[in-house]
Amino acid sequence: MSKVDVLLGLQWGDEGKGKVVDVLTPQYDVIARFQGGPNAGHTLEFNGIKHVLRTIPSGIFHKDKINVIGNGVLIEPRIFRQEIEALREKGVDATQNLYISKKAHLILPSHRMLDAANEMAKGNAKIGSTLKGIGPAYTDKIARSGLRVGDIMAVDFKERYELLKVQHLQTAHTLRFALEGFSIDGLPFEQYEREWLDAIESLKAFRLINSEYFINTCLAEGKRVLAEGAQGSMLDIDFGSYPFVTSSSTITAGVCSGLGIAPSAIGRVMGITKAYCTRVGAGPFPTELFDETGRRLCELGHEFGSVTGRPRRCGWIDIPALRYACMLDGVTDLFVTKPDVMDDFDEVKMCTTYEINGEQTGELPFEFNNVHITPVLRSYEGWKHPLAGITSYDDLPENLKAYLAAIEQETGVHIMAVSISPDRKDVLFK
Ligand code: GDP
Ligand code: IMO
Ligand code: MG
Repeated sequence: MSKVDVLLGLQWGDEGKGKVVDVLTPQYDVIARFQGGPNAGHTLEFNGIKHVLRTIPSGIFHKDKINVIGNGVLIEPRIFRQEIEALREKGVDATQNLYISKKAHLILPSHRMLDAANEMAKGNAKIGSTLKGIGPAYTDKIARSGLRVGDIMAVDFKERYELLKVQHLQTAHTLRFALEGFSIDGLPFEQYEREWLDAIESLKAFRLINSEYFINTCLAEGKRVLAEGAQGSMLDIDFGSYPFVTSSSTITAGVCSGLGIAPSAIGRVMGITKAYCTRVGAGPFPTELFDETGRRLCELGHEFGSVTGRPRRCGWIDIPALRYACMLDGVTDLFVTKPDVMDDFDEVKMCTTYEINGEQTGELPFEFNNVHITPVLRSYEGWKHPLAGITSYDDLPENLKAYLAAIEQETGVHIMAVSISPDRKDVLFK
């Protein structure tokens, strides 16, 4: 019996999960997504090709590996079809090695409308959602009124769709949201809806499975399974900076319910962190930099959302938040990405504790959103050396190694590898 290894983001998303999963895929037989949906944007680069995946696991470029969209994931059929077509243009026929859980829930066009309506209703308190319908679709799942992938085969699917849509329109009306003039991805609602219904048909080309049986059978046969997280632990519905979070369980616990495996079937937990920190959307970010250094991180790190194109907020690495994520996730190995972005920096800083009302603490307070947090920073001398071309961990500049050793010491977790460019080939295992 083998176990499911997990790879997930420890910050506010965009840590480089797509790249790292792609790099690790040769060691596995199955790559499975367990939560989230097209709010994710996972970037892969190799042979000069750059590709952004949304719902599809990042093992898809390896033809001989099975990729699974688990029951905990949300599928938006029209976005999914676009993803499939973009892959086909790159010579990848995903119908061959992508299996979809019949229990995965569907995002309807009216969920996307509700996402916009909810954000509008929140006014200044808006979350900065990616507007992909994530919150409303998970709400319907929990309210026991959602539609699932397996339902598309039912003869009354269209009627059930209409019923749910009518409910959504009523809610939008209550929120005083005007459907007139509302468009989704540049298309009027009715046209989007037609294309969405059409895209439902293309889902039927895939193997729709009971993924919990599939994954557990794989484990019983000794196959190696890697679970790929989306978003990051600090966006978790329970432990993130609520309500500025996403609507799923982004931590290791989510793997069990999102794939249908027992806690005892979890193996290694690989957590990814950038060498600094970013966040896109609203919510607290104690180490955020509003100065020239913040702008340099954004510019040199190309920190613009892969889904929305919004500039990401940037700051120093946040150890209290990282330690919290390591605790919640049971991280066994750390993966650090993007130190190369700071190659030219004279100094690199690390937030070791928070100062709140004159007191120092290493814990994230319940009032995370409402108290003023001053990050206590420790400075490290920059390495001032381009990392490009370095092929072994031992050859990394000493100042960078000292910085990485401090991350290990502060989190109590050893670093397994460091990524030094967007490309698949630039990963240095320790
Ligand atoms: P994900 O959502 O966690 O998969 O991350 P994203 O793809 O949204 O964002 C990570 C960005 O950083 C992408 O543009 C990657 O190509 C890029 N990237 C990943 N690892 C590295 C690295 O080590 N160095 C640099 N400079 N860029 C990286
Ligand atoms: P990956 O998988 C970064 C953020 C949004 C918003 C909040 C809620 O690429 O790391 P939602 O659309 O879920 O209602 O948005 O969460 N967010 C992400 N930020 N990376 C992501 O995914 C994200 N998915 C959602 O910006 O603040
Ligand atoms: Mg991303």
